[in-house]
Amino acid sequence: MGLRFGIIGYGGMGGWHKRHIEKLEGMEVTAIHDINPARVEAGEADGVKSYLHLQDFLSDPNIDAVIIATPNDSHMELALASAACGKHIICEKPVAMSSAQLEEMIAAAERHNVVFTVHQNRRWDKDFRKIMNVLQSGEIGEPYIIESRVHGPNGAIFGWRSKKAHGGGMMLDWGVHLIDQLLWMIKAPLKSVYCRMRRVLKLEVDDYFRVHMEFADGLMAHVEVGTMCLQPLPRWHVGGSIGTVRIETFTDEGELTILKRPAQHTNEPLVDTGAGPSRTFGKVGGVEVYRQVLEDPGTDFLDFYRNFKASVEDGAELAVKPDEVRRVMRVMEACFESDRTGMPVVFDE
Ligand SMILES: NC(=O)c1ccc[n+]([C@@H]2O[C@H](COP(=O)([O-])OP(=O)(O)OC[C@H]3O[C@@H](n4cnc5c(N)ncnc54)[C@H](O)[C@@H]3O)[C@@H](O)[C@H]2O)c1
Repeated sequence: MGLRFGIIGYGGMGGWHKRHIEKLEGMEVTAIHDINPARVEAGEADGVKSYLHLQDFLSDPNIDAVIIATPNDSHMELALASAACGKHIICEKPVAMSSAQLEEMIAAAERHNVVFTVHQNRRWDKDFRKIMNVLQSGEIGEPYIIESRVHGPNGAIFGWRSKKAHGGGMMLDWGVHLIDQLLWMIKAPLKSVYCRMRRVLKLEVDDYFRVHMEFADGLMAHVEVGTMCLQPLPRWHVGGSIGTVRIETFTDEGELTILKRPAQHTNEPLVDTGAGPSRTFGKVGGVEVYRQVLEDPGTDFLDFYRNFKASVEDGAELAVKPDEVRRVMRVMEACFESDRTGMPVVFDE
């Protein structure tokens, strides 16, 4: 019979989950629920049992697990109702509006003995895994700065994403992915978080933010999202003691290079750079620079669902654990606090 999913919220992401689960062995989507009658009709047209009312959907015995893919402010309530009906849960990101809400969700899942995870699917992104593999390999020596950015040109925040009450804004939409990636990759304890946010297009919610994070081993991370940028900076820029990694975009698999050179401590002569004199920045000659295409990490984001199934059926360890989600939520809350006070928030991990 396999694992039977019901999807709550049959919009953009609900449809995406259905299309991908259909490719997987031993998993199927048996039902959807949406409060919009047009989306219920769309579900019927797509051949699944479709419900307008939540309790009818949750009473369906042909659903083992739900995927919550609704606007962010509704996740908690839907998760509590699903857990109470014994349904295992995949919740979309951001899991909730606050740590307090998340604690209620974790407690409900434990009380009703259901598996609970969050769709932090960008842990499987190839650009991210390439960076993670380079850092783990030691190829660039000791990293001192990781810059992770997404810049878009459209000012494109609309619908519920532009409303504070629904959990809109770029911190909750994309910050949650980029912070999750960094916290999952960096093993050192977090020491502090400083964040500034802007509403460039005068929306209710943040459409630009930058976060500076410091870790116990001295590593710094910069996380930045902007929706109104016509000259995007690279998706990743990472500095290490003997190398630099740069990846242009999260879709572009082409121009991926490592520039590597031994550190120079010789007394370089002063040169005329054409833009004034410089010793430190004037000269690249005399040392070897290696360019290297980063290897395809061979990740498959469908492993997220396979892991969830294994967890439900055999008690396998979850790929995305509630404790990790907790930590990301705390960092996002620290970002909002830091933006409000103008001060860094100190962590004691
Ligand atoms: N992991 C990812 O890569 C990713 C990408 C996009 C969106 N998301 C997340 O998925 C969720 C949904 O985003 P979307 O872009 O699909 O939104 P959407 O607006 O396209 O779809 C949301 C659907 O939920 C329905 N809905 C609203 N409130 C509901 C409720 N209380 N009960 C049942 N149905 C309800 C709406 O009618 C709509 O059909 C959000 O949490 C978002 O952050 C995740």
